Amino acid sequence: MKKIRVNLGERGYDVLIASDLLKKAGNHLKEHGFSGRLVIITNPKIQALYGSLLVERLSNNSFEVFTLIVADGEGEKSLDVAGHLYTELSDCHVERKTPILALGGGVVGDLAGFVAATYKRGVPLVQIPTTLLAQVDSSIGGKVAVNHDKLKNEIGVFYQPELVLSDITVLRTLPSDEFTNGMAEVIKSAFIKDDQFFVFIENNLTKIKALDEGTLKEIVFRTANIKTNIVIQDELDTGLRNILNYGHTIGHAIETTSDFDVKHGHAVAIGMIVAATIAEKLGVFDIHDLFRLKSLLEYLGLPTKMSHLDTGKIIHVMKHDKKISGGKVKFVLPKKIGEVFITDEVDFAIVEEVLRS
Ligand SMILES: NC(=O)c1ccc[n+]([C@@H]2O[C@H](COP(=O)([O-])OP(=O)(O)OC[C@H]3O[C@@H](n4cnc5c(N)ncnc54)[C@H](O)[C@@H]3O)[C@@H](O)[C@H]2O)c1
Ligand SMILES: [Zn+2]
Repeated sequence: MKKIRVNLGERGYDVLIASDLLKKAGNHLKEHGFSGRLVIITNPKIQALYGSLLVERLSNNSFEVFTLIVADGEGEKSLDVAGHLYTELSDCHVERKTPILALGGGVVGDLAGFVAATYKRGVPLVQIPTTLLAQVDSSIGGKVAVNHDKLKNEIGVFYQPELVLSDITVLRTLPSDEFTNGMAEVIKSAFIKDDQFFVFIENNLTKIKALDEGTLKEIVFRTANIKTNIVIQDELDTGLRNILNYGHTIGHAIETTSDFDVKHGHAVAIGMIVAATIAEKLGVFDIHDLFRLKSLLEYLGLPTKMSHLDTGKIIHVMKHDKKISGGKVKFVLPKKIGEVFITDEVDFAIVEEVLRS
């Protein structure tokens, strides 16, 4: 088993990464000091795959388990669904010390996390991420949120979990496009912070594609470690944490202009290529490294170009993105693989030229 300590003082917690971890969840929750009642929030798909296994193991450890089910999909991350969950929690007589276990991908994690943060002004939260994206990204760092109208992830708080249990074995049942989606964040993390890890990915592509558990464990561990190191330096996202948005400024704009038809990982992949191309054109990033990034993304089935992009709309959305400060758009650009910088000095003519090409 691999363990990462998210060192945030009294809000600190462990991220445990191992095969077959769900089977041992009861022990880990007990060791953490939980006892008595627990509430699992999950969706029907994950419930069918892993719900009964988890409940059985928790019951064996003398926990009394309630399971609350929300539907599958981004649409569930809403105030409406949160409202239903509050009622159900109250019906189950959930008290301030009763932990909520978020069993699922980023959608369940963000929604259950938001509910845990707000119900009775906060009950303990345990993240049990079941997608690659959730294991390497959304379960760590305490950002929890719902969507509202056109506001995506903008109704939320920072609320750290007390424990994260990442079971590598559950990745086996993940649809391949969800796996690829998560790989975009893995590559992003290596690219912004760890050239050795980038090389590791380049050297292990066959094993990654074959979902070799040992390799996946290493990948989840190294990516989660990168996120942790950034989060502990900038818990509330006021500076350094911005670098995690590499590929996201353009990525978000592509997602928005496509009405979210383009998947997040796909949009981020294109965003990473656009940002790296801008850096190359500015003379700060080597073209060979741009090719390395491109080959890696392509090998894993991520797009590096898109023919129907509405450049004007993308630029418009970017200029109105929430990450704007003082009327300027912040870009994260690479200097080399493993090192990026943040700038708000990019001329939009270059962005437009790169997007068009
Ligand atoms: N809080 C953060 O810091 C943060 C960071 C990144 C993304 N997010 C959010 O995460 C969400 C996306 O998360 P996601 O990519 O995990 O998508 P998701 O939660 O929608 O999961 C993708 C699909 O995979 C299914 N699934 C999950 N685990 C499975 C498994 N083991 N086997 C088979 N199927 C499984 C789900 O039911 C769903 O259909 C977005 O809402 C995004 O805003 C949050
Ligand atoms: Zn992302």
